[in-house]
This record gives sequence, C-alpha cells and structure tokens, in this order.
Amino acid sequence: MDEEFAGKRFEQAGGGISRRKFLGTTLIGGATLLAGGSKLIFAENSPPAAEKDMVFRIGGDLPVNRLGFGAMRITGPGIWGWPADRANALKVLRRAVELGANLIDTADAYGPETSELLIAEALYPYPKDLVIATKGGNTRPGPGEWVPDGRPEYLSQCVDKSLKRLRLERIDLYQLHRVDSKVPMEDSLGALKKAQDAGKIRHVGLSEVSPEEIERARKVLPIVTVQNQYNIDNRKWENALTYCEKEGIGFMPWSPIGGNRGLHDNALETAAKDFHASTVQLALAWLLHRSPVMLPIPGTSSLPHLEENMAAAKLKLTAEDWKRIDALAT
Ligand SMILES: NC(=O)c1ccc[n+]([C@@H]2O[C@H](COP(=O)([O-])OP(=O)(O)OC[C@H]3O[C@@H](n4cnc5c(N)ncnc54)[C@H](OP(=O)(O)O)[C@@H]3O)[C@@H](O)[C@H]2O)c1
Repeated sequence: MDEEFAGKRFEQAGGGISRRKFLGTTLIGGATLLAGGSKLIFAENSPPAAEKDMVFRIGGDLPVNRLGFGAMRITGPGIWGWPADRANALKVLRRAVELGANLIDTADAYGPETSELLIAEALYPYPKDLVIATKGGNTRPGPGEWVPDGRPEYLSQCVDKSLKRLRLERIDLYQLHRVDSKVPMEDSLGALKKAQDAGKIRHVGLSEVSPEEIERARKVLPIVTVQNQYNIDNRKWENALTYCEKEGIGFMPWSPIGGNRGLHDNALETAAKDFHASTVQLALAWLLHRSPVMLPIPGTSSLPHLEENMAAAKLKLTAEDWKRIDALAT
C-alpha cells in the first residue's frame, strides 16, 4: 500500500515515469551505493520512500515520505521579504517535490507571507498527495524578530489568510507556531479547533512544546505532529520525541542539520566519508534511523544542497554502523 502510494505520487510529480521504472531506478541507486561506486550519494528523480519504513501517516490518514522539505530558507535574509533570486526559489520548491518530498513545512511568519506565496506560485495546482504544513501564532516585527501571538481572534484570521495565500480550501496540517505565555494554550487551540470544525484545517500540530504541554493540548483536540528543535548535536527535546514515539505522533525536527550554526563534529565528518556521504547526509540519515515517527524538514535555498539532502534517504547503514555512529553522536 505504501509502495503503491510512493509510486503513484512519483507519476504525478515526476512527469510520467512509470511506477515500475521508478522502483527500478531506486534499486539501481541502492546497488550503486552498496557497491560504494560513487564518491558521494546523489539525488535522483525518485522519491526516497520506496520502502515502507520511509512513509509515515500523519494523523493516521496522510501518508508522507518521511524526508520532507522546510520552506523557511527560500525567503529573503533574516527570513524576511522576497529572496534575491525568486526564480531559483521556485526551482528549489519544484525540485523538492520531484525528488520525493511530499511534506513541505512553512509558516505565515516566513517572509512573512512570502514562503507560502512562493509555494503556491511554484506548485499550484498541487500534486494530489502533497501535504503542506503551515503554522500561525508567531508575528514578525522585523528581520530576525519573532514575537508569539496566541490570541484566538488573531489565530482565526491567520488560518483564513494562509488558506488564501496557499490557494487551499483546507490546510492539511496547521501548527501552532509557539505557545504564547500571555494566552492560555486552551484558548489558542480553541480557535484552531473551531477552524477544524469549520473544515478549514484537517490536522493540528504544535511547535517547541514539552510532553506536558502536548498532553494539555490533547485535552482540547487531537495533536498529530510536534515540531521541536532537534538534531544529532542537539537532543534537548529527547523527552518530547519519546512521548511522540509512544503516542504515534509525528516528530518534525527543525534545524535537522544544525540550522544557522550547521554541524561541526569532526568525528561525524570522518564517519560520513567512510560511507561516501557528506556530514549533512549522515546527520539526516541518522534522524531517519533514530525513530519511525521522525519527519526531518531540512531547509535550503540551494539546488545542489537540496539534491544532497534528499539523497540522504538512500544512505543505508548496517546495525553495526549505526552503533558506531550512535557512539560518536552521544
Ligand atoms: N517550528 C519552528 O519554530 C521552526 C524554527 C526554525 C525552522 N523551522 C522549520 O524547519 C526547517 C529547517 O530548519 P532550518 O532551516 O532552521 O535548519 P536546517 O534545515 O538544519 O539548516 C538550514 C541551513 O543549512 C544550510 N544547508 C542546507 N543544506 C545544506 C547542505 N547540504 N550543505 C550545507 N549547508 C546546507 C542552509 O543554507 P543554504 O540555503 O545555503 O543551503 C541553511 O542555512 C525550516 O525550513 C522551517 O520549515 C521551524
């Protein structure tokens, strides 16, 4: 079923290559990798989700390839305004989908507005199984500035505006960007529940929350995803990941490759070379290996970086290899 799904979505996004051909391409890619025949693994026009464990069903009914794309970096500097090269941003978005990303994360605050607008410009009409996950509840006074606003009336308006910008009738996944310390979480989520009841939102997720906050939120409405900062170097939210795993909630690590800081672990870099991979690829593969509920959303404005990142799903290591990497990473 999941294989069927993966093949189907490729036919839509990949411009008519048959499912059979797609599966063949993936196998050849894998064989090359196993033989160590390339210096670095490359992306191909094939989704990474040929295997069952590479698909996660958000809310039980939205199958997505676990390696997604974060659309925060396609805006201008400071996540502000339009990118200098707008045509390139559109290319990056289209290529992400061609390479198998069918979970795209964005927010009204990215730009603000420009990330959502670019997604619609690049991809509308959307492939049937593309899941756009947006967020609201963070305002942008200026470049690099983020101020939470969880007032219900503000959030209701955010949902309507995102619907319009994304040209959607219903948002598949709407995430509360931040819990606003000035507003009871129940009130903020109440507004999202109303939007859900009105058919404007399919599923609801949270961002930067503890297990206790997730429990509290689930008393108001079902929570299907949690988006917290997490990567091989930063395990602050291990407890939230454990909670999500136990409850079957999708965990979308932001800064999966270290964000602005990047990843600077020499041991990891050396290990990556052993697998003909880059550090970034190994870090993404580690996340995918770390948990079946993990949905990394690496962000980039660069086509070569996108190709590199998406190819990480093809990096297959043995249990022994992972033991070695885990020892390096902890
Ligand atoms: N919920 C939240 O509060 C929250 C916060 C932040 C982000 N997010 C979401 O999470 C996504 C990812 O987070 P993020 O963008 O902060 O962190 P990230 O994906 O870990 O890192 C992105 C940074 O790494 C660079 N990069 C990407 N691929 C690379 C490669 N192969 N080699 C070298 N550098 C590479 C990018 O620059 P280039 O453009 O030059 O490639 C960019 O500066 C965002 O797009 C957004 O959707 C959510």
